[in-house]
Amino acid sequence: MGMHLKKEEEQIFDGEFGEGMQKAMELLVAIGDAYDAEKMISVSRAHAASSGQEGDLYFVELLANGGACCRVPTSTNPVYDVEYFDDLFEIPKYEADVARRVMEAYKRVGAIMSWSCIPYMAENIPLYGETVAFSESSATPYVNSVLGARTNREAAQSALAAGVIGKTPEYGLHFKENRKGTHLIRVETVLRDEFDYTLLGYYVGKRIGYGVPVLTGISRRPNTEELINFCAMSNVSGAVSMFYILGFTIEASNLEEAFQGDLPKDKITVTDHELKQAYCELQTTSEKIDFVMLGCPHYTLKQIEEVARLLQGKKMRKDVAFWVCTSATTKVLAERNGCVDVIERAGGHVIVDTCIDEPCWIVYKDKVGMTDSPKCAYYRRFKEARVERLQDCVETAIREK
Ligand code: F3S
Repeated sequence: MGMHLKKEEEQIFDGEFGEGMQKAMELLVAIGDAYDAEKMISVSRAHAASSGQEGDLYFVELLANGGACCRVPTSTNPVYDVEYFDDLFEIPKYEADVARRVMEAYKRVGAIMSWSCIPYMAENIPLYGETVAFSESSATPYVNSVLGARTNREAAQSALAAGVIGKTPEYGLHFKENRKGTHLIRVETVLRDEFDYTLLGYYVGKRIGYGVPVLTGISRRPNTEELINFCAMSNVSGAVSMFYILGFTIEASNLEEAFQGDLPKDKITVTDHELKQAYCELQTTSEKIDFVMLGCPHYTLKQIEEVARLLQGKKMRKDVAFWVCTSATTKVLAERNGCVDVIERAGGHVIVDTCIDEPCWIVYKDKVGMTDSPKCAYYRRFKEARVERLQDCVETAIREK
């Protein structure tokens, strides 16, 4: 063991605080050793990218059965909407049991049962300068770049372990020098909406792979949803845990600061052509669709309002199912302002606590979907997916054949 541990950390490592905390500490120490960290640092919050899958079940039950309990607020990712699904679909009993046990175990370790992949919007919001441990593709870059807190690109397990111990090994993005820009991205096109940010994120992540892109040329302040989409897509097609949009993100106001005096490794220009190229790459089918899946990442209230506006007074085709995934917190607000009612009267569903990456969607394994999210298409549990703007998804769902 190369890390220097304080007395209490050693006691936890030796099992004096119970087996659950010991297992969490063993994982953190192993990660710290792998990254040559010298010590642990405190975290003020964590987000575990939980899922209703066996690997997640194994680790969270290991900690829960060993008596571990979160020392700092630790939110959770989508798993399974127990009440909603049981009425609609025949989920294989094994899959349903795994998901239920995962949710029960997270409850036992005292996690925040947000079951949302955008907890940084409501249930678990880091402040500027906080040291945290966040997993989940949109969450890590959003927390680093938009909020100005510091997190590495955690896994569900390392984030949960950090939440239980209240610490994480000090390496990577916890150091200022590792937060410097690597690639200069000159955006030479007008980004019109959230979908353009989706395409931009997809293209940038794919081009640079691993790195910290610094984007210039964006003249309009991106809104929250545009930033969420850029984060989610760049950290799926690539490994982008941090980025800068000069003029709008928090940690650097000019190129000198963003690159910390160094030169970029590479310079990339993004025009309309690159966005169109990204769009074309995402089209893998033109087959008739069976369902529309929105809310990957989980939709915000504003996005649900837009869906309701597009569906006002409309009726969905009988042969197309229409899903909007969001958090329980957001759904309450969308119910209060009548949006859920509008979507349901049109024939759609607003569903919480789950997402397309969960085994409960296995019912769609032979079906063709349509989504506004390349991430949804990438993690699909269905046959094929068309990736289009929200308006096109809605129009396709309501259009007469
Ligand atoms: Fe969120 Fe699930 Fe998509 S975690 S980003 S809705 S695959």
